[in-house]
Amino acid sequence: MGLLLQGVLLFCLSALVAGTDFYQGSKPQTQSAFVRHSSAEDRTAKIEKRSLTAQLTSHRIRRRRSTEPADACNTLTGFDSKLADNTHPYVFDDLSGSVSLAWVGDGTGVILALTTYQMPFFLFKFGQSKLYRSENYGKSFQDVTDLINHTFILSDFGIAIGPEKSGKVILTGEVSGDDKPRIFVSDDSGKSFTHHDLTFMPLTQMSYNPENSNVLFVFSSKKELWLSEDFGKSWRKIHDMVCLVKWGSKNTIYFTTSKNASCSDRGVLELKKTTDYGKTIKTIASKVYSFGRGGRFLFVSVMTSQDRLRVLHVSVDQGETWNIAQLPAVGHDQFYSILAANDEIVFIHVDEPGDSLFGTVYVSDDRGTVYSKSLERHLYTTPGGDTDFTNVTSLRGVFITSILAADNSIQSVVSFDQGGEWVPLRTPSNVKCKVTATDPDKCNFHIHAAYSMAMKLDVPMLPLSEPNAVGLILAHGSVGDSSSVIRPDVFVSDDGGYSWIKALDGPHHYAMLDSGGLLVAVEHNPSDTIYQIKFSTDEGQCWHVYNFTKEPIFFTGLASEPGARSMNVSLWGYRDSFISQNWVSFTIDFRDLLTRDCGDGDYVQWLAHSDDISDPKDGCMLGFKEKFLRLRKDSVCWNGRDYEVTSQPTPCACTLDDFLCDFGYYREENSSKCVEEPNLKHKVLELCLHGKEEQLVTSGYRKIPGDKCEGGEEPKREEIDLSKRCVSDMVELHSSTGTHSSKSVA
Ligand SMILES: *[C@@H]1O[C@H](CO)[C@@H](O)[C@H](O)[C@H]1NC(C)=O
Ligand SMILES: *[C@@H]1O[C@H](CO)[C@@H](O)[C@H](O)[C@H]1NC(C)=O
Ligand SMILES: *[C@@H]1O[C@H](CO)[C@@H](O)[C@H](O)[C@H]1NC(C)=O
Ligand SMILES: *[C@@H]1O[C@H](CO)[C@@H](O)[C@H](O)[C@H]1NC(C)=O
Ligand SMILES: *[C@@H]1O[C@H](CO)[C@@H](O)[C@H](O)[C@H]1NC(C)=O
Ligand SMILES: *[C@@H]1O[C@H](CO)[C@@H](O)[C@H](O)[C@H]1NC(C)=O
Repeated sequence: MGLLLQGVLLFCLSALVAGTDFYQGSKPQTQSAFVRHSSAEDRTAKIEKRSLTAQLTSHRIRRRRSTEPADACNTLTGFDSKLADNTHPYVFDDLSGSVSLAWVGDGTGVILALTTYQMPFFLFKFGQSKLYRSENYGKSFQDVTDLINHTFILSDFGIAIGPEKSGKVILTGEVSGDDKPRIFVSDDSGKSFTHHDLTFMPLTQMSYNPENSNVLFVFSSKKELWLSEDFGKSWRKIHDMVCLVKWGSKNTIYFTTSKNASCSDRGVLELKKTTDYGKTIKTIASKVYSFGRGGRFLFVSVMTSQDRLRVLHVSVDQGETWNIAQLPAVGHDQFYSILAANDEIVFIHVDEPGDSLFGTVYVSDDRGTVYSKSLERHLYTTPGGDTDFTNVTSLRGVFITSILAADNSIQSVVSFDQGGEWVPLRTPSNVKCKVTATDPDKCNFHIHAAYSMAMKLDVPMLPLSEPNAVGLILAHGSVGDSSSVIRPDVFVSDDGGYSWIKALDGPHHYAMLDSGGLLVAVEHNPSDTIYQIKFSTDEGQCWHVYNFTKEPIFFTGLASEPGARSMNVSLWGYRDSFISQNWVSFTIDFRDLLTRDCGDGDYVQWLAHSDDISDPKDGCMLGFKEKFLRLRKDSVCWNGRDYEVTSQPTPCACTLDDFLCDFGYYREENSSKCVEEPNLKHKVLELCLHGKEEQLVTSGYRKIPGDKCEGGEEPKREEIDLSKRCVSDMVELHSSTGTHSSKSVA
């Protein structure tokens, strides 16, 4: 499904916007593109010493209640022969250097595998592709290369899978010899293809309208925006000199254009939109530096007339009206980045001036206008846009990221309340800290994510969580104050990040199957062959080992259908012999291992975010508590493809913890109370909203967006319409000064 699509999309976008605002906040998952390892990787990078800062020690670290006490590993016997009967090796007669996998549709079992072989001497101009197709989750493949007439398909963005159940596939290629761009389109999940020749050279992946998969746009090598309304048959040029383009909701396309030929002339671009596929085009902002989208918010960074500073403007009506976001203005060496966003809230990173490697995370209100400082010294490197910021999708409100502490050490922090408060991760219970004489109390737990990967640490995968595997997180991590973590281990949390245990020694590739009922892992060791896969039926507490082959392979990656509902997982790799380096895959179907369907007795009730059930506020998070039915750890049974997460939400009464500190206020250490920032004391705050100046009357609190608490504490807050016009339009922007774009009038 969307995995590969997203991965390649992200690649393209960051390639287009490198060095500017709104890089994507997270790296694409790489599990569906494999390359052979040419030589041992450089593994000299290290994570620096970490230490705990007092400001992060909190009065509000919550504990959790496990679903049940951990008991000894139950013995699972006789699985070897069951799994051996369900292991399907497939050898590809193929010597290509890389393979890209794409799942077509949801639950169809259709996989397309594209291998590309490129002659190194001719750069990217000469190459060959082979296309394989599986209809049984990878157990066997058919060579369907003749469907594309051996055309060379671009390996970095050549596959575009249509949204959801469309069954659409587009392959972008080059007819060898004459550099003619050609696309192959299929609307039957790759069973058949027809081709169309293009009059322009695509520079990005074909981008489907999320609301109508027959409509596509693509950006050409001459910076033109092209659109097709008939699934690639005919194309129409929408605009010249386009710098960046994105789909919006309701068939909207947003794009920035440059008046003269250079997209690097930032700050003079125009942001345009079309809602009728280019028939009419409207300019919605000028003096634009860059733009980004997240949830229902549209952001644009706009140059001010002073000091080459730029400020962020936000729109919630598709760019018809704009408000200035209450965020610091940034200079030419800084950037804004959207870390995560949904329709209610957005997390924005604002880079520090200079070459700092860090910035400040702000969280928005529900209009995207007023922001609260959430986390300082947030680690975010500029060249690659690497940040550890992770939305833990298996539990509402949980985010994990890293900060650069004052001593330049890197520390992992977690927030359980959507950025309201960040605390260090709790040290795993089953790991002894190697305490050294110099740092006796420092025993921190660090999660390795995109930043560690960029630093070439031995971290093959990002943290993994899935919405249908409630509370579960798999991640690489390390414990202690060691200044040279070379081999991180795999850790697991079953309560959304409150508590952790060490699950596996050393780095691994991992995947979740059957909505978390089954976890699989394969050791990551590029320099040696492997023949074993590990699996766990109890959320990572006990692991069993299965020898899947007698002839070990060089392993390149695990592949399972996105969405974690499958029971089939494939191991991809190759065998190295004197004559060949053929690709091989082993697909293991675990269905026979979990012989029984799960019944009512296999599930237990679990209260999320829970600490102490005698407390009526126990488990309240963002205004409500949720009880989930979760699979018992000792149940060895099958959740099934149709498994739905069931939760019972109940509302909570409001407390001060359901509020953020308002603009001009901050939270005192170890307290829920918000106090006024001394330099803004006794000042009236005015905001510019929809072109009208409004006065903010606040007692310092503002409800957390999305918080559903009822009754209880209700701090006063109102916005009074001053019936004055104010300027927040794009063209003439002289009102913004200092660090906040709104004025503070005495
Ligand atoms: C492949 O080439 C043949 C002969 O040149 C042509 O008839 C056929 O339509 C092509 N198929 C595709 C899918 O392009
Ligand atoms: C593009 O236009 C802007 C403003 O009109 C100007 O400042 C800039 O020098 C121009 N760049 C080029 C490459 O012509
Ligand atoms: C985090 O992930 C969850 C689950 O996918 C999603 O519902 C939520 O909107 C995300 N939050 C943000 C701020 O992106
Ligand atoms: C798997 O391989 C290991 C190491 O070679 C061996 O000790 C073990 O007996 C094998 N297990 C089975 C069931 O063959
Ligand atoms: C595993 O693959 C088989 C086809 O080989 C398919 O019938 C089955 O539904 C798959 N299992 C799951 C849970 O996806
Ligand atoms: C806050 O709490 C921590 C831990 O309980 C304590 O070490 C620290 O001194 C407290 N800070 C203040 C300002 O009370």
